[in-house]
Amino acid sequence: MDAVILAAGKGTRMKSSHLKVLHSVGGKYLVKHAVDLSRQIKSNQIVVVVPDQNDSIQQALSDQELIYAVQKKQLGTGDALKSALSVLKKSTSEILVLNGDMPMISKDSLKRLANTHRKSKSAVSILTVHVQHENGFGRILRDEKGAVAGIVEARDATREQLKITETNVGVYLFDAAFVKKSILALRNGNAQKEYYITDLVALAVQKKLKVSGVVLQDSSEALGVNCQSDLNQLNHEYYSRQRQKFMGLGVTMIGHEIFIDANVKIAAGSTIMSPCYLRGQTSIASGVVIEPGCVLLDVKVGEGSLLKAYCYITDSSIAKCCQIGPFAHLRPKTKLADGVKIGNFVETKKSEIGEKSKVSHLSYIGDAILGRDVNVGAGTITCNYDGYNKFQTILEDGAFIGSDTQLVAPVRVGKGAFVGAGTTLTKNVDSDSLAVSRVQQTEIPGWAKKKRAKAS
Ligand code: UD1
Ligand code: CA
Repeated sequence: MDAVILAAGKGTRMKSSHLKVLHSVGGKYLVKHAVDLSRQIKSNQIVVVVPDQNDSIQQALSDQELIYAVQKKQLGTGDALKSALSVLKKSTSEILVLNGDMPMISKDSLKRLANTHRKSKSAVSILTVHVQHENGFGRILRDEKGAVAGIVEARDATREQLKITETNVGVYLFDAAFVKKSILALRNGNAQKEYYITDLVALAVQKKLKVSGVVLQDSSEALGVNCQSDLNQLNHEYYSRQRQKFMGLGVTMIGHEIFIDANVKIAAGSTIMSPCYLRGQTSIASGVVIEPGCVLLDVKVGEGSLLKAYCYITDSSIAKCCQIGPFAHLRPKTKLADGVKIGNFVETKKSEIGEKSKVSHLSYIGDAILGRDVNVGAGTITCNYDGYNKFQTILEDGAFIGSDTQLVAPVRVGKGAFVGAGTTLTKNVDSDSLAVSRVQQTEIPGWAKKKRAKAS
């Protein structure tokens, strides 16, 4: 089948500066959820209907294989489908249509829809859901035999019709020949003056064609986004499922405020304490412990590493058995080898730190390469930037950097060399040497005692 994703709507009810479908659930755009679902069911062509003069969806998805259909004016879901039909290339026999604002629809529900559609040789098949509370969805009209007779939008419904609890999910499977013929017959004589995709159901019934309604087994799949409150509820539901999924896979979670984005991987035998936010393409190996307050975006954490409380880490990799934090900030392109220790109030950026090296307290390490067993004393700073360019610092294996040192880059400290505390290092240091730059200490015996005597 081919898939069409309706994503051109303004989303006025969001009161947001972004298009509705570019809001995220589980760290993934709403429209991307629909694209991924279409791929999962092996759709042939995937058409995304986008608004005119706004290419933010194309930019956000940056996906060469998608086909975009521009809907000139947002005249309703039926009109959006019409734009999609005009760009579909080869004809296929079935066209699946997904609203772009429903991230919870499952592959299994689509399979059930397709099975029913094929068995019954329907012209249109739709997913429906029985709701407990009023939700503004289109109401499903059924005839006396229980067959689907039409969909009436909440805004066009009579009082009696509003009482119907079976509603339209926003997922349709069409016979391609039927939809191509019938799309031109849609009229906009309704409350919103829009062309409704939902009217295709009544058109099929008029033509005495078969229409099937498949009820969702899990009604939470019908959760969609129309306003900020919906988005909040959906994220709540999505992250709660993510937690359940990973606990089912053997991840220990302590507390509930643990947010795991759609593409994150976590191995069994790791422990995560709330609150915590694992974002993007983060992957966590087994035996990792993440203490409260950590945020990780696109981070790889190796086996047995410990992230102590309140670390903020982006685009970095941490090998096995490292200890980070508390309160560490690992900025992009930080690469830690096995057994590295990064202590409190340390910031790193674009730096490789070799096996078992330690940066334990209050330091900034930027644009640096550290060998193995390097010890960086408290308060050490790489001065990597002169206001115009960035320069590199290299600390070779076993180098020992005394506390409160400024490493003025470009600079290199050779293997096993020592740098005395308080040094402002501006020149390279040979292996096994000692470098110190420090005013000689002087001492005046009895000076303090005399000062006290004067003061009294
Ligand atoms: C629609 C259905 C309703 C169903 C509900 C489920 C219609 C007329 N109604 O209502 O029966 O219960 O979904 O969520 O379809 N869009 C466009 N172009 C447009 C208008 C909308 O591409 O001109 C896109 C939107 O971006 C959105 C989707 O179509 O992704 C649905 O539009 P929306 O306005 O949210 O429809 P609902 O009022 O929710
Ligand atoms: Ca909607």
